[in-house]
Amino acid sequence: MGRAVSSRPASRGERGILRVGNICANVIERERPLSPERRPEDAVEPGLRPRRLEDYIGQDRVCANLRILIEAAQARVETVDHVLFYGPPGLGKTTLAFILANEMGVKVKTTAGPAVERAGDLAAILTNLGPGDVLFIDEVHRLRRDVEEVLYTAMEDFALDIIVGKGPSARSIRLNLPPFTIVGATTRPAMLTAPLRDRFGAVYRLDFYDAAAMRAIVVRGAEVLGIDVDARGADAIARRSRGTPRVALRLLRRVRDYAQVRAAGVIDAAVADEALAMLEIDDLGLDEIDRRVLALIVEKFAGGPVGLDTIAAALAEEPETIEDVVEPYLLQLAFLERTPRGRVATRGAYAHLGVPYPEPSEARPPAQAPADQQPLFR
Ligand code: ADE
Repeated sequence: MGRAVSSRPASRGERGILRVGNICANVIERERPLSPERRPEDAVEPGLRPRRLEDYIGQDRVCANLRILIEAAQARVETVDHVLFYGPPGLGKTTLAFILANEMGVKVKTTAGPAVERAGDLAAILTNLGPGDVLFIDEVHRLRRDVEEVLYTAMEDFALDIIVGKGPSARSIRLNLPPFTIVGATTRPAMLTAPLRDRFGAVYRLDFYDAAAMRAIVVRGAEVLGIDVDARGADAIARRSRGTPRVALRLLRRVRDYAQVRAAGVIDAAVADEALAMLEIDDLGLDEIDRRVLALIVEKFAGGPVGLDTIAAALAEEPETIEDVVEPYLLQLAFLERTPRGRVATRGAYAHLGVPYPEPSEARPPAQAPADQQPLFR
């Protein structure tokens, strides 16, 4: 593709994924129309991102809880408690942070864990917040420990403890801040330290969207972008969008291009099917890399179990990329199981690839760890 993503320096995060600013520049991510990670072309047109809870489609449980949180805070004339959103990328964590601020009638500032390099940077951000403002911290699990420690006092007491002077004469002075709300977002809740997690009063998990919500999001996106799409065209796009609005809106744009060049600009089911087939996205929204992962497990490792590192090495990819980017949707479709001994392809995966499922005599060990060994967060 060869697109310059940003003039900001690239860094390799602890997930091994090369990031430029907050934009993932890993090979799979750069090439895949189905990647859930934010990319430059996802820049949001005015109106595309809903600004009110009433315009937000899906995540009903989270929205209902947010509504109560907001109304209660407004009734008490207080700031909203600190909120943590977690879940796979592209599901609306940033959008909900902006909605929260908008509903409260306050300003929102945004930053990201890796962007806050020193405790002093965080202090500067916090001292510039107005009363009640929201500070959105994306990838909050990637804050440095020393920065995180400053955040603890700030979140708990709305204060910064500043060390003045050096050596024996050094002393700590407390700088009080106006109350504010931290909204943290993470795709990796298990990597949050316990003290940080405990300081979020409200913690919400975002799930993949169901089919009806995805259809409604495509229709709304088409309206905002002025794209002509009929109900079956919207459905064809929604079905392949992996329950992820960011993917749906990206595919909508790609299909629009195709419709413009080949079909007088109108997206119906046939146009959507043709456009998505050209992008090698199949009926369930799997792309080439998904199919390669499944085919590898099925064909080279007799369906598994096979370790993540082996899969990654065989595909010349980073294990973190396979784990964070490819696997969540395969798990969601129940095509893949994570077992203590490695990844296992399920009956559904065989059926999707058109490969006969092995006979019961070749039975495999149980797929799930016992319930008491399952992590609290995936
Ligand atoms: N655009 C992207 N995500 C959306 C959502 N959940 N609701 C409405 N519009 C959206």
